[in-house]
Amino acid sequence: MSEPLRLGIAGLGTVGAGLLRILSANDAGLALRSGRPIVVRAVSARDRKKDRGVDLSAYEWFDDACAMAEAADIDVVVELIGGEDGVAKDLVGAALTSGKHVVTANKALLAHHGPALAALAEEHDVALNFEAAVAGGIPIVKTMRESLVGNRITRVYGILNGTCNYILTCMEREGRAFEDVLKDAQEAGYAEADPTFDVGGHDTAHKLALLTTLAFGTETAFDAIYLEGIESIAPEDLEAADDLGYRIKLLGVAMQTDSGIEQRVHPTMVPKHSAIAEVDGVSNCVAVDGDFVGDVMLIGMGAGAGPTASSVVADIIDIAQGNTMPPFAQPASALRPYARARMRGHEGGYYIRLSVYDRPGAFAAIASRMAEQEISLESIVQRRPRAALPGIGADGQAGAPMPVVMITHTTTEAAIRRALEAIENDGNVDQKPQMIRIENL
Ligand code: NAP
Ligand code: HSE
Repeated sequence: MSEPLRLGIAGLGTVGAGLLRILSANDAGLALRSGRPIVVRAVSARDRKKDRGVDLSAYEWFDDACAMAEAADIDVVVELIGGEDGVAKDLVGAALTSGKHVVTANKALLAHHGPALAALAEEHDVALNFEAAVAGGIPIVKTMRESLVGNRITRVYGILNGTCNYILTCMEREGRAFEDVLKDAQEAGYAEADPTFDVGGHDTAHKLALLTTLAFGTETAFDAIYLEGIESIAPEDLEAADDLGYRIKLLGVAMQTDSGIEQRVHPTMVPKHSAIAEVDGVSNCVAVDGDFVGDVMLIGMGAGAGPTASSVVADIIDIAQGNTMPPFAQPASALRPYARARMRGHEGGYYIRLSVYDRPGAFAAIASRMAEQEISLESIVQRRPRAALPGIGADGQAGAPMPVVMITHTTTEAAIRRALEAIENDGNVDQKPQMIRIENL
């Protein structure tokens, strides 16, 4: 058997501790599959005294992760700290510069600095592997970098955040409150250190930026992604979606259009009978449309210690076997500038929920605002208010607001935005209209 592959692991939280558990549980099998032992030489985290449920006594401890990156007896630096800048960026930069392979689960870092770090890795002839950064345990990076390489990709999309999918599923199935479910997701280790990155859609956007680069060979363009999180999704939207034959999912979508590449992250209504609607809880899915392969969909656990660390191990084994390639499948210098398709040009169906004052002429005014924008309606339903709040319509009080739900036929984002702005300005609604895009997947 060849020389051991020596690891330095920075970050011993959910994923780092999970990695140590896999390496210890499966060490013999991993050595056989990679043709050499995988040994942990050193570790780094903030608090040396913290009980992590794993034995660290055999490893050298570094308070300074960057110093570990430069240690002579380490071949691979595993970055599991997180954050788009700061110590994670310094550590990865230091490791690559000193000729060490890097494995990271840090999508925030790569979404912002991926091409530059990839160029550094290529310059020093080392790997920068990031399977765990996109969709946890799903092997989508390897699939796109290797298995689908013969195709021209036209679209990649998916449920890319386990925390959001878990929250939406529990709200829908169990009628639980948003905050309550988020707390569960944090306790289970699914959420980011700052969970607003999850619920605000930023984490999905980080992953989408990487998928876009892998799919279209363009530079990462996180700031060009249209972004909406799930904070505005109300129980009445989940109920209405269910009645109308849909489920609500936070999707990331990147697709080639005539005017450039559309990249968007937003809550989406998907038909209940579609495969993606069945992806529940902390599961993720990623679908890729290729010109020769057709449609491919991968489903699996998107977050948590085990699934994420499983992907980290796969990256380490690739390095142990000598399977290294440019991080984004092609040389970083060959990545093309990203050409953005404007969100206002997006075409699709829309779900609109209005809280309409129940008075003569209100419906007619709303219908005429939609007609002005040439938006045709598939359905319009006046729904009962969810809770019989005094004075909010349930008591039949004339003039009190009533929920109205509309589904449109295909139209443009620009038309919908103009119509909703006019409806709001007309004063027939008592709150900002809710709008959710429909995707007939
Ligand atoms: P976490 O539980 O918060 O762990 C972060 C670790 O980093 C902690 O051990 C912390 O040390 C250590 N750390 C923080 N600052 C440090 C510094 N200056 N020097 C050295 N160590 C430092 O985070 P996580 O959930 O494991 O996530 C790690 C990475 O994996 C992130 O990039 C995240 O986005 C990504 N990821 C996570 C999941 C998931 O399901 N959790 C899935 C996919 C990807 P202490 O423990 O001493 O405080
Ligand atoms: N916070 C992320 C999620 C972790 O919930 O999907 C996995 O990237």
